[in-house]
Amino acid sequence: MAVIEPKNSLTVTDNRTGKSCEIPIENGAIRTIDLRQIKVSPDDFGLLGYDPGYMNTASCKSNITYIDGDKGILRYRGYPIEQLAERSNFLETAYLLIKGELPDKERLAVWTYNIRNNTLTHANMTKFLDGFRYDAHPMGILVGTIGALSTFYADAKDVANEESRKLQVRRLIGKIPTLAAMSYRHSMGFHYVLPDDDLSYTGNFLSMMFKMTEMHYKPNPVLERALDVLFILHADHEQNCSTSSVRGVGSSGVDPFSAIAAGCAALYGPLHGGANEAVIHMLKKIGSLDNVPAFIKSVKDGEGRLMGFGHRVYKNYDPRAKIIKEIAFQVFEETGRSPMLDIALELERIALEDEYFVNRKLYPNVDFYSGLIYQAMGFPLDMFPVLFAMGRVPGWLAQWIEQVKDSEQKIARPRQIYLGEDERNYVPIETRPKNRVDEQKFGICRL
Ligand code: ACO
Repeated sequence: MAVIEPKNSLTVTDNRTGKSCEIPIENGAIRTIDLRQIKVSPDDFGLLGYDPGYMNTASCKSNITYIDGDKGILRYRGYPIEQLAERSNFLETAYLLIKGELPDKERLAVWTYNIRNNTLTHANMTKFLDGFRYDAHPMGILVGTIGALSTFYADAKDVANEESRKLQVRRLIGKIPTLAAMSYRHSMGFHYVLPDDDLSYTGNFLSMMFKMTEMHYKPNPVLERALDVLFILHADHEQNCSTSSVRGVGSSGVDPFSAIAAGCAALYGPLHGGANEAVIHMLKKIGSLDNVPAFIKSVKDGEGRLMGFGHRVYKNYDPRAKIIKEIAFQVFEETGRSPMLDIALELERIALEDEYFVNRKLYPNVDFYSGLIYQAMGFPLDMFPVLFAMGRVPGWLAQWIEQVKDSEQKIARPRQIYLGEDERNYVPIETRPKNRVDEQKFGICRL
């Protein structure tokens, strides 16, 4: 019997017209532009895909990060996150993400030198910082100052030039710890600390954050390594909200500082980079182990979410959460155990057994324990999304470069389904019916 070769295509029948068409399948996807040939009449625009939140739409082809959410797999350029967390360091992982391969010794030394050589910011940057209010959120400062970097480096506009791209990459990875630390010290009213070349990338960041009057700041090696691993775990996560923002803004051809500032702004939101802060607020609100069952009940009754649980992609477990939990114990050995850790452990224990969470495949995500670690290290809550952004910069840059070099990429421009008014004629204000506006409220708004 002849074997029928399966065809790599999709046959769609439009029941409105009875017509069928064949759409090619490539890499497990159809090009949604192929749906446009499906029309009810010649002047019909053609069928669109409707996908709010891009739940099932691939916006690019990528070689950087692989995630299998059902199996709990995360790999950068093919390397499992567990191996990188155990054996690599943040700058080496950044090299891997951006260049595609692990560096040899010499390349790593040059890469590290080039980044460390770019840690200083223009002196005018301090004037910028001085302009922010004393209580400005450091993430807001970071968004503003990264965007401002584009005004210092006009050459960054030359996005098609590979040498220019390399230079901006070094500048961004080099300067982000400096800006991050400055944003913190501004909010504390402390003097800014200059970078210290004798320290590692992460050690230097800790120095710029916490150095006071001592001649040389000596980072605690356990905390320094823990933070470095946290940066590795945050370094990329394929097409999440902030990375899609970097790609979307970058698709206009703008310089990378502006595109990365957009990524930072996206990361600021509580459903993305702000979740670890929300976890601490939640643990504080719960207050003691006795209150855990009542809190779990309130979540199940729909009165709020268990922050740090659930993920759009991971429906088994978040592999980063496992590693972070181990780091939490190492850090607490050094700093002393936080009572909130016990509440977190109890929440996790109950949630992993409770059918509400099990049925919805809700597991701890990267944010569940990271906030506790940051807090134990002495970072204020406001700094949590800033730390996330610092780790994510190499991933954003790798994705931005991939997009710039991808000949298939176009300016991001989604379609919409218009459900508004049909054409209507302008009505002069004298003849318009009176709007039902609460005049008093309107007055207050204008203040
Ligand atoms: N606590 C309680 N219930 C939850 C939670 C949670 N954390 N997350 C999802 N659910 C429930 C929803 O209520 C919904 O239940 P229903 O089917 O009865 O209506 C179901 O699970 C599916 O939820 P969705 O919101 O549709 O899932 P989605 O994939 O869109 O959301 C998200 C993912 C935003 C991360 C969500 O799980 C959440 O809000 N978690 C808490 C915030 C958080 O930790 N964010 C960090 C994410 S990791 C990161 O950005 C680095």
